[in-house]
Amino acid sequence: MSRRVVMITGANRGLGKAIAEELAAKGWDLSLGMRRPVPAGAALVHPFEATEPASAAAWVNATVERFGRIDAIVNNAGIMIPKSVVDADEAELDAVLDVNLKGPWRLARAAWPHLAAAGEGRIVTIVSLSGKRVKAARSGLYSVSKFAALGLAHALRHAGWEAGVRSTAICPGFVATDMARGLTEKDPATMTQAADIARIVGLVLDLPNTASIAEVPVNCTIEDVI
Ligand SMILES: NC(=O)c1ccc[n+]([C@@H]2O[C@H](COP(=O)([O-])OP(=O)(O)OC[C@H]3O[C@@H](n4cnc5c(N)ncnc54)[C@H](OP(=O)(O)O)[C@@H]3O)[C@@H](O)[C@H]2O)c1
Repeated sequence: MSRRVVMITGANRGLGKAIAEELAAKGWDLSLGMRRPVPAGAALVHPFEATEPASAAAWVNATVERFGRIDAIVNNAGIMIPKSVVDADEAELDAVLDVNLKGPWRLARAAWPHLAAAGEGRIVTIVSLSGKRVKAARSGLYSVSKFAALGLAHALRHAGWEAGVRSTAICPGFVATDMARGLTEKDPATMTQAADIARIVGLVLDLPNTASIAEVPVNCTIEDVI
């Protein structure tokens, strides 16, 4: 059986890097999107800038040229601007929507014919619990973009169902990466670890069309969102 091919955005560090390591260990061929590409073993490493409209299509083309197929995409790249919707200006709203919503939308559309051709195409979007509830005023701007990303994940799920494309939103709380370390004094050891989210992504990608999981909320502290 041919090896499956996955494209992962923001694969140079944090969650994206952990997901790449997990999927490589599970036998996937990797196509890694990075703003500043650095070599990563046998993987194809390609420039990917979420805010650049032509970037996703160029990367999809390079992936198909190298591997001949695309079985899955993992929309991981994201930014957090810790501002309320009142304090944020229009450029900041555009910035979070560009990276957290339009980036995944552009990549899904560019990869779509290949995901559909696979018959078991997969889309995983790293959303956040902030896509399910607004935790504080300061996370409001980010939440707006992540609610939109969650909507996109569900909309893709509907759009792809007949073609066998399954879309899943992963919704973690704090994960011990640069992003969370920049936001809280919380001990990283008490946060969800990137490798654990990567294991969840690996499981979701392995499930058959008849066992699709639409959303995976992940808690490192007790709260109402389950
Ligand atoms: N950490 C958490 O607590 C947490 C919780 C829930 C959800 N998430 C989500 O998980 C995902 C990964 O976050 P992380 O924790 O790994 O964050 P991170 O350590 O800050 O890494 C963010 C990644 O996104 C990339 N990126 C940022 N802007 C980009 C752009 N314009 N184009 C392409 N790539 C871009 C970064 O690339 P550079 O290295 O070039 O900057 C980096 O690879 C994000 O969607 C985030 O919102 C994180």
